[in-house]
Amino acid sequence: MSCALIVLAAGQGSRMNSDLPKVLHPIGGAPLIAHALRAGAGLEPDLTIVVTGHGADLVEAQLGKLDPELRSVRQNEQFGTGHAALQAKWALEGFEGDAVVLYGDTPFVRSETLIRMREARAQSDVVVLGFEAANPGRYGRLVTDGDELTCIVEAKDATPEELNITLCNSGVLMADATTLMTLLDRISNNNAQGEYYLTDVPELARQDGMTTSVVTCDEAETLGVNTRAELAAAEKIFQSRARAEAFENGVTLADPATTYFSLDTFIGRDTEIGPNVVFGPGVTIETGVKIRAFCHLEDCHVSRGATVGPFARLRPGAELSENTHIGNFVEIKNATVAEGAKVNHLTYVGDASIGARSNIGAGTVTCNYDGVFKHRTEIGEDVFIGSDTMLVAPVRIGDGAMTGSGSVITSDVPDGALALGRARQENKQGFATRLMRNLKAAKARKAGKVD
Ligand code: UD1
Ligand code: MG
Repeated sequence: MSCALIVLAAGQGSRMNSDLPKVLHPIGGAPLIAHALRAGAGLEPDLTIVVTGHGADLVEAQLGKLDPELRSVRQNEQFGTGHAALQAKWALEGFEGDAVVLYGDTPFVRSETLIRMREARAQSDVVVLGFEAANPGRYGRLVTDGDELTCIVEAKDATPEELNITLCNSGVLMADATTLMTLLDRISNNNAQGEYYLTDVPELARQDGMTTSVVTCDEAETLGVNTRAELAAAEKIFQSRARAEAFENGVTLADPATTYFSLDTFIGRDTEIGPNVVFGPGVTIETGVKIRAFCHLEDCHVSRGATVGPFARLRPGAELSENTHIGNFVEIKNATVAEGAKVNHLTYVGDASIGARSNIGAGTVTCNYDGVFKHRTEIGEDVFIGSDTMLVAPVRIGDGAMTGSGSVITSDVPDGALALGRARQENKQGFATRLMRNLKAAKARKAGKVD
């Protein structure tokens, strides 16, 4: 069965008090809408349509970055959830299959839940996702008759008896796409809020002799983000879910409460993560890696058997091959480190490549920036870079070459050569003894004068 997602994301989100549209506020390093889209992706949709409105330009620009296949339609004025879903009508022309309505500000709906809804569609024409609310408050109430969903009543339109119902509407709804659009064409705004309610769909369907039902999920899945406080709470929920997932995937977390993940973090089995590690977006870690305490990683790839940290920073474009060692106070940016190479202490490697088995001494800096342009440093295989070497890029160090400690390397070093780029040492016999004697005598004379 083909499937189309309709993701509602036109609302203002005024309670965020922000210039940024609500669905672009991040949790787990990714905009809220990316979370909703990921849940929907579990249904393997043939078509995804996002309904934009407030901040449409910004939202559409972000959608383009997430996935160029995403379609967007505009709801220029927000007349309600039913009106929003109806904007997808033209984008759905010629599409045959089911449509699923999701909210862009509701990040935790599980793919498995959506799959259960699809299964329920075999028995009924319209399926709504409901939940038992601890505090039903302003949620729409699901009025049921046995397994059938009679109708959805918005809190503002409900009778006192209906307000006693605790089975509430999550907002997620699934039906045949053409049927849904036909029903949405018929809804009116004759209600307490003067809005076109998506929630009128089940009742209209029943009037046409169709069947309707409810699939339920945990309330935690339906949590929406409306305020900064809810955004912070959602971040917490996201992180605890991500930690639980890491455990299931065979990852060891020394102090899980201090490991922070992004939506797209991927970590292989038998990797060990020390305390206080932050994974920004775009990180993949293979199996059997050790990330020690206090590391920050972003947009990088770490291959199997590597060791990183403590206190290391992997910035965008850091690419570590198998069995590499990156030690304390080392920063790697836009650089490849080939198999078995070691960068163990106090070093900056940027815009560079380091060949297999090379050893980069403490305090090495690739001087990659001349104030205007960035330049590359190429280090061959089996190279030994002495401590405190400044590699002034563009520069190439040949295979098996060495640099002396404290060298400033400004020109290429041939294969197998030793490069010394520092002043020659000179020893002045007896100089230190004489200097010290003279200094002490001067001090004694000065003290005598003062007394
Ligand atoms: C809606 C449901 C309610 C349910 C609740 C769950 C309706 C009428 N009510 O109420 O039954 O319990 O969600 O959270 O559907 N949106 C648009 N365009 C609009 C209006 C809304 O895109 O014109 C989007 C919003 O950006 C948001 C979503 O639709 O992502 C839900 O809208 P919201 O105003 O929060 O609906 P509720 O009043 O919470
Ligand atoms: Mg809402």
